[in-house]
Parts: sequence; C-alpha cells; structure tokens
Amino acid sequence: KDLAIGVDLGGTKLLVALISVDGKVIIELECKTSIHDADHISFTLINAITQLIDHVDRSRLRGIGVASAGVIDSKGKKIVYANNLGLENYPIGALLKGHFQLPVRVCNDANSAAIAEWIWGAGIGKRNLIYITVSTGIGAGIISDGKLINGIHDSAGEFGHITIVHKGERCGCGNRGCLEQYASGTALERLANQRLKSSTSLLHDLKTGTTVTNKEIALAAEKGDPFSISLLHEVGEYLGAGVTSLIHLFNTEAIVFGGGIMNMSEFILPTVEEYVRENSITQMSKGVVISKTVLGRRAGIMGASGLFFLHDESEPRMN
Ligand code: BGC
Ligand code: NA
Ligand code: ZN
Repeated sequence: KDLAIGVDLGGTKLLVALISVDGKVIIELECKTSIHDADHISFTLINAITQLIDHVDRSRLRGIGVASAGVIDSKGKKIVYANNLGLENYPIGALLKGHFQLPVRVCNDANSAAIAEWIWGAGIGKRNLIYITVSTGIGAGIISDGKLINGIHDSAGEFGHITIVHKGERCGCGNRGCLEQYASGTALERLANQRLKSSTSLLHDLKTGTTVTNKEIALAAEKGDPFSISLLHEVGEYLGAGVTSLIHLFNTEAIVFGGGIMNMSEFILPTVEEYVRENSITQMSKGVVISKTVLGRRAGIMGASGLFFLHDESEPRMN
C-alpha cells in the first residue's frame, strides 16, 4: 500500500489530496467549509474524498489522515472542540470509517504541518523546530528535542490561545487577550474594517464589497498603501511577541511560518524578526532562523498522510 488520503480541515477551507508514501501530492481538491454546520461539513468531506478515491485502486490505500483545526482526541478520533469550525465532539473518525471502510487517523492541523515541514520541508535534519500557522486562527506544532510535543490530550501547541494582552479581547475559546484576536487572518480583516472608516487608504478604492478582505489588504500593501502596511507591521509585532515567548520557552532553532496570511510575509516577517531581536534574550535567539513555509498550503495534507507513512503503531503519536 503506497498511498493515503490527506485531509486538512480548516476554518475557511477543506483541502483533500491523494498522497504517495514519499510525500508526493498526486491529486488535490479544495472546497469551502461553512462553520457551525456539522452536517454540511460531513457532506463536503465525504463528497471530496469520494472524488479522490474514485481515481485509484482502493487496495493501494493505507487510510485517511485528517489534520483539523482545534483540540483533537486522536485516540477517540474526534474533533473535541474547534471554535473556528463551530464543532464540538465531532466524530470524524467514525464518520469516515463508516463511510469508506478505511483506517482513519486524526490530529491537529498545525501539529500535522509541523511534522510535514520537519520531514519534507523547512526543518529537515533539525531537532528543534516550531511551525506556526497564521490563517483563520493561529496554531503551532512544536518539535522539541526531536519529538512532537503532544500533551495529554494531543493538543499541545495552541499558540493562538496564549494570552498576549492582559484582560484583552474575549476569544471564542473562553480566554481573554488571545494572540489569535490580534494577529490572525480574521483579526487582520476585523482591524482593517474597524479602522478604515476614519483613515485614508487605497483600500477605499480597491474594495469591491461592503467590507475589505485580506486579499484586498495584500494588494494594497503591494501597491505601497501605508494604512495596510502598518496593519501588517502591527500583526508582525504581536507575532514577534509570541515568538519571543516560544524562543524563551523552548530554546528552539527554527521558526517556520505558514498559513494563508503568509502570502503577505514580506510585510510581516521582517517585523517579527526585528521584534525578536530587540526583545528576546540574545543568547537564546541568536542563530534562530525565522522563515516561511517550504510546503505552503500543502503542509497540512502532507502531514496528515504522514500519519500513515511515518510510523505504524495503531495510535498516531507521531513521535
Ligand atoms: C485552533 C488551532 C488551530 C489553529 C489554526 C486555532 O483557532 O485553536 O487548533 O491549529 O486555529 O487552524
Ligand atoms: Na497545534
Ligand atoms: Zn483563545
């Protein structure tokens, strides 16, 4: 068996792919996900996977690996809680196993992408690496001393939900002042729209709908719009503060950024680097490489297929 299905279920999109044992993506498919609608998510998932399976001799398939946003129970194969998907106790393993009669393994999307970057991307040969995704939400996968940190609920690495502002904005997770409320794709759009009314910006001309989107912010920044560029610098500062804490906590050697927002990395990462340089313990941050994903949007699906390729125990621990 030399193939697996990789699934990446995020707050905005679902990516599914047929992947070979050496990490090659053979076919991939992208769909939009609608949040707070478990039935629709199930329907979209089954539909997309069916289309892929129809292309291949089933005897070649090891199984379906799922990377999902949120707190995951990898033994129970459930999405325990995902605020950006509006799901709670969603039995994704039972659903897919019941439908396709294939083994299913489930893990967190950022943890999965971290593994993929480690094996096939920016982290090859490193023993310490932290992957951070900045998309609808913010997540991380922490590889420390040559091992992915799982925690008792396989949920270590919820970097988007660290407190960055004392008594700050309320977050969907229950906490206040979460990084995700200040530096995610969702936050960027919200901040832009809140501040646009009282600001001069190219976005007034570029915007096509009633509110501006991240795509339009990216376009405006590329055209040199100071309003958009300063928003991206602000996002970079918050991320820089978070990364400084990660460096202090884990003494890591590499930070890899991925997620949709990294198409604007040229306006964000230099600020992250500058913040870290100015605020971290120099002896710890010296030599830490901060870079952009090598695998791009495929990191999640590749890591998900890795749940079948990288080890063979019955439980996906990925370490
Ligand atoms: C979730 C994480 C996820 C991240 C990126 C956050 O809101 O809590 O589990 O990794 O978004 O999708
Ligand atoms: Na994570
Ligand atoms: Zn939170």
